Amino acid sequence: MTVMSALSEPTLDVIQVRRDFPILERQVHGKPLIYLDNAATSQTPRQVIETLDHYYRHYNANIHRGLHTLADEATAAFEQTRDKARDFINAADRREIIFTSGTTEAINLVANSWGRANLKPKDEILISQLEHHSNIVPWQLLAAQLELVIRVIPVDEQGALDMVAYRELFSERTRLVAVNHVSNAFGTINPVREMATIAHQQGALIVVDGAQAAPHEPVDVQHIDADFYAFSGHKVYGPTGVGVLYGKAELLEAMPPWQGGGEMIRTVSFDAGTTYADIPHKFEAGTPSIAEVIAMGRAFDWVNDIGIAMIGSWEQHLLAHATRKMTAIEGMRILGTAPHKAGVISFVVEGAHAQDIGLLIDQLGVAVRTGNHCAQPLLQRFGVEATCRASFAAYNTLEEIDLFVESLERVIGMVR
Ligand code: ALA
Repeated sequence: MTVMSALSEPTLDVIQVRRDFPILERQVHGKPLIYLDNAATSQTPRQVIETLDHYYRHYNANIHRGLHTLADEATAAFEQTRDKARDFINAADRREIIFTSGTTEAINLVANSWGRANLKPKDEILISQLEHHSNIVPWQLLAAQLELVIRVIPVDEQGALDMVAYRELFSERTRLVAVNHVSNAFGTINPVREMATIAHQQGALIVVDGAQAAPHEPVDVQHIDADFYAFSGHKVYGPTGVGVLYGKAELLEAMPPWQGGGEMIRTVSFDAGTTYADIPHKFEAGTPSIAEVIAMGRAFDWVNDIGIAMIGSWEQHLLAHATRKMTAIEGMRILGTAPHKAGVISFVVEGAHAQDIGLLIDQLGVAVRTGNHCAQPLLQRFGVEATCRASFAAYNTLEEIDLFVESLERVIGMVR
């Protein structure tokens, strides 16, 4: 991953980008919407909305099952997204792309399929302190059932992983590392390639939660050498309810199915037992979110048209501008100041509750997230229960950041 220098001026035509987002024209409490909750979900360009609409108007059909025209068209469009997803994260093989309902389901798939088949009592899993609950709780559930040991990779004061501690945490029982590529709460970009190399030297696998990386920087799963990599459609300008699990083909082939049903079988018999389909279908039981998968493919096209590196550079520009302005606010504490971070600013302000800031700033049309960001262990480490979080996307502008900071100052003045 590259981190842009704050000094360089990216050339993104943000006015043009904004034209693709009908929702950005709306008002909230009589004020123009300033949407800075992109780490929770990004807004959806009209091209993606139109793809959903077109599917239901013209070729709504179940996939992989019918011989009729609509079924053929829906299957082709669905499978085309698999190729687009492969290209989006540079996987070697389209069979390594499994569609899930999102990052959470993808990680649960790894835990329940690979984990149950490969882990034994006293085996150890390393989980970073930066994780979202979706990369903690599936492992805790499994640990309780299989008597596994979870060890936590600590973060330093800036919210960066302690890589010395990481190396020291390995033992001969370490089987898996679970880490996010980018922290949703603090924006820290983790050195996942280096972490994968170390994990592999120690004989462990690595599962990377890429939910907050895929929307912001080019992802190359082969370069990272991730064993598993998960991300969600709705944070990459696509619809909710869909996501991707990448897994190395040889791992997926050896893993048992985790959900049974239609489409994941080869033959079913009460007498002879059941045999399973090849990957990726072995892991795609039941009717998937067909329209949403197809529309997620359109979202990848949309991102590719602009260029993910360009989007990342623009967000770095916004991040630098916002950080500079916010640091000047009296009593401001930004949590997460790692040298490599994505467009996320988590903060608390002395004398003002995060909840109050979130509610009042909404009255001024500004949407930020307030709470623990599904990362309670991280916030506990920093001695806070909640922060406000502003997170940026391709369509945010410097003017919006200025208005956000002005609104923030007004709100702080009201609650102090
Ligand atoms: N994981 C999402 C967030 O950070 C929902 O807001």
